[in-house]
Amino acid sequence: MGRILTPFIDDLLARVDIVEVVERRVPLKRAGREWTACCPFHDERTPSFYVSPQKQFFHCFGCGAHGSAIRFLMDYEHLEFQDAVEDLASSMGLVVPREGGPTASHDNHAPLFELLETATRRYQQALNDHPQAQAYCERRGLDTDTLQRFRIGWAPPGWDFLYQALGRDATRVQQMEQAGLLAMGEQGRRYDRFRERLMFPILDRRGRVIAFGGRIIAGDGPKYLNSPETPLFHKGRQLFGLWQVRQQAAKVEHLIVVEGYMDAIALHQHGLPQAVATLGTATTPEHAELLFRTAADVYYCFDGDRAGRAAAWKALEATLPRLRDGRQAHFLFLPDGEDPDSMIRAEGSAGFTERLEQATPLSRYFFDTLAEGVAVDSLDGRARLAERARPLLAKLPDGAFRDLMVQELEQRTGVRVVAATAKSAPMRKTGTFQHPTRGRISLVRKAIERVLARPALAQDHPPPYRFVGLRQPGVPLLIELLQLAHDHPALHTGAVLEHFAGREEAVALHKLAAKIDSDQEDFDYQAELDDALHQLDRQADAARLAALRLRLAENPLSADERQELQELLQAKPVQ
Ligand code: CTP
Ligand code: MN
Repeated sequence: MGRILTPFIDDLLARVDIVEVVERRVPLKRAGREWTACCPFHDERTPSFYVSPQKQFFHCFGCGAHGSAIRFLMDYEHLEFQDAVEDLASSMGLVVPREGGPTASHDNHAPLFELLETATRRYQQALNDHPQAQAYCERRGLDTDTLQRFRIGWAPPGWDFLYQALGRDATRVQQMEQAGLLAMGEQGRRYDRFRERLMFPILDRRGRVIAFGGRIIAGDGPKYLNSPETPLFHKGRQLFGLWQVRQQAAKVEHLIVVEGYMDAIALHQHGLPQAVATLGTATTPEHAELLFRTAADVYYCFDGDRAGRAAAWKALEATLPRLRDGRQAHFLFLPDGEDPDSMIRAEGSAGFTERLEQATPLSRYFFDTLAEGVAVDSLDGRARLAERARPLLAKLPDGAFRDLMVQELEQRTGVRVVAATAKSAPMRKTGTFQHPTRGRISLVRKAIERVLARPALAQDHPPPYRFVGLRQPGVPLLIELLQLAHDHPALHTGAVLEHFAGREEAVALHKLAAKIDSDQEDFDYQAELDDALHQLDRQADAARLAALRLRLAENPLSADERQELQELLQAKPVQ
């Protein structure tokens, strides 16, 4: 997808009226020069959500959500930036210009979407004509409404059902191949990838078909066959059923994550339309981010067997870096031999809901699992537990939850880990996709205050600074301060201020200096500065990651960029 040109975004925002964009989704009441409503992003009874036509900005005084019309769409419709811009533009009748012009790759995707949509329709029709496949659906308890909601279809036997229907010319054949609809035989002969299978379309976050899973209903062969990775489909980034979840509710309180197509579908049909499936892959950090962008509470539901346990631990690891305050993960293990599909059929939504309510919170699952096979009544055992937990806790974003987990570990082990966690494993690479503007000023300001209060602390923070590229107010000033204090170890606060005499920044610095609390201990300042700088580094990583992803969608990355992307994605704390 070609990068959207920045001037277009300026232009788009200049033309759009945020009041209209919001009003279409959230009824607004006039309040003086602004408009107001109960905030769609958190629960409240009295309105603290305001939209300003002058500033073309929304802001919630309750939860702090704020931003432009694009940001509103992203948050409200759970869209990625590019998709929000697309939607906004098309609502204005505008075409989004992209780098590389109209022939850029994004437009080349249109025929692929079209092909996949047509294929879906053909498969749906074919199901109507195939009693055996219908009987299978019936046996699995799929009702008509479910078949339609999930657009379930049938790929007939033979080698060329789609090929005949869609492969009109060489270009089409090439596009079918790109869309993952064809497989290639030994002599380069192409044929339908999906044959004699019940077809489950996989939709993207805008409801477009991007891939399929196909289940065998008789005979030999792998139970499921999935589309290969294509320009539209990346397994580790998609969640089956998410579109359907979002369709049925504007605000999703919780999500249930299961492993199989049939599991997700059964939960939807039986009254729990909050289920999504990971398509038989391990939960990735990208999945976790996608989940939490939709709902604050995530329930991972796994089989109780060993494979299920292993999958659950993977999910936990993918989730830790995404657990900002307010987000919660829970783990539900089913009895042996059951899967969510069989479970909800046996117990109904009431029974399943009861299980969800008793699901294990991540914190308990975390400590119970780590303590397995460790003799926590011995000194060595407790040390071992602390050792195991430490690098994992370092993955957690700063916040109350992490503090509580660290406290819990200390209680269980008697080992003091607070400083060790923050220092030995600074979370440099665990960038979360935070709202890029939220809280940024205070973080930079916090760091500036600390350097100003104790310039000597800059000794621990030599240049270069990773967050140098962060485009946030105050970053250049912070860097200048750090460098100055680092190069001149003897400077005290007053002397630092002198360096800025006559400059614009001096007033603000004087105000900050006046507020310095002379009772605060050195080590407090140190921890706070370390912490603020780590967080800025992480924000820089997140911004870099987002930029690389945009680039990746557009054209192949260089080897260095790929390497960087991988490092960022692995989100490994620097030891
Ligand atoms: N899977 C796959 N390829 C396979 C087996 C499984 O891709 N050969 C993926 C599918 O996404 C499947 C999920 O792993 O939905 C879970 O597998 P399983 O539990 O075996 O499937 P169910 O969803 O329970 O399907 P069914 O009830 O139809 O057996
Ligand atoms: Mn099953």
